[in-house]
Amino acid sequence: MKLTKQKIVELLENSDNQDDLFHRADLIRKKNVGDSVFLRGLIEFSNFCRNSCFYCGIRRENAQIKRYRLTPDEIISLARGAVQLGFKTIVLQSGEDVGYSCDDLCRVIEEIKKMDVALTLSIGEREYEEYAAFKNCGADRYLMRIETTDKKLYHQLHPKMSWQHRYECLMMIKELGYELGSGILVGLPNQSLESIADDLLFLQKIGIDMAGIGPFIAHPNTPLKNCLSGTLDLSLRAMSVIRLLMPDINIPATTAMETLEKKGRIRALKAGANVVMPNVTDSLHRSFYELYPNKACLNDGVAHCYACLNLQIQSIGRKIGTGYGSHVKNSVKK
Ligand code: 5AD
Ligand code: FES
Repeated sequence: MKLTKQKIVELLENSDNQDDLFHRADLIRKKNVGDSVFLRGLIEFSNFCRNSCFYCGIRRENAQIKRYRLTPDEIISLARGAVQLGFKTIVLQSGEDVGYSCDDLCRVIEEIKKMDVALTLSIGEREYEEYAAFKNCGADRYLMRIETTDKKLYHQLHPKMSWQHRYECLMMIKELGYELGSGILVGLPNQSLESIADDLLFLQKIGIDMAGIGPFIAHPNTPLKNCLSGTLDLSLRAMSVIRLLMPDINIPATTAMETLEKKGRIRALKAGANVVMPNVTDSLHRSFYELYPNKACLNDGVAHCYACLNLQIQSIGRKIGTGYGSHVKNSVKK
């Protein structure tokens, strides 16, 4: 669907009529991607990071957290556990950790791909050759949020990083044939509704396959500790707008939404989302992967989360998807 920037700003600011927006997004979701909710098993395999993003709890300057790096065998074993529970997609996420070689990661990818699942990487900015190597050994999808398209704001929040370089990485990933997931943070300090509207139009323009839209949550050990967090309502409105703009893409109900409000994820599933990414990292390491505080479901075992989500999903008349849950445009029709 086409929407002007002005129309998007109106939708974002209108909290009185947000239920209409959510309902419209829900109908478009149903028509284009159906009632299945696809689960992705998220493995947070290392919290080492070379970057200093102002909002992020695992930024390199945060000396308060214990750093960990799972071995390839540990990662493979977590993936196997998740696959046994029924997950059809495994997402490997980490900080920008230079502690793994390209070969290490390729081995992990190859082993997990033997388990008959889709594999998603979320490991940040890398060289073209590395993106190509990961793709060649079986990685199917890549997630990397642009975070914001306001370049001034981007450079304020990401010291020593370049917006242009991040954009170029997204283009490389797309060109290599990955399904591309990107997205933004909502409610960053000094972020206007106009800027969020630009972000959403940007995501539409570059043609992403999945959109991750989540509220910014202030973390106490970061430079943004005294800033106000984003709100669930505005994040949901931004998410619903991207569903209007891109009717058939995958849209996760993000964990950050659940963190701001119990049942935040269910509200998201009723406002355009069709994916959930439960954490399948073991609970010890999970607590160290603290991008933001009070992460939802932090102490729940994987089997518990699966069962709990299954109930929640059924309670809104939906069901857990049984296939890989690729972007419908890309998936082979049976
Ligand atoms: N609040 C919300 N989301 C965050 N992320 C990182 N730090 C925070 C935070 N404090 C998000 C970023 C990143 C994703 C993996 O987690 O958008 O891309
Ligand atoms: Fe973990 Fe509900 S999803 S407790």
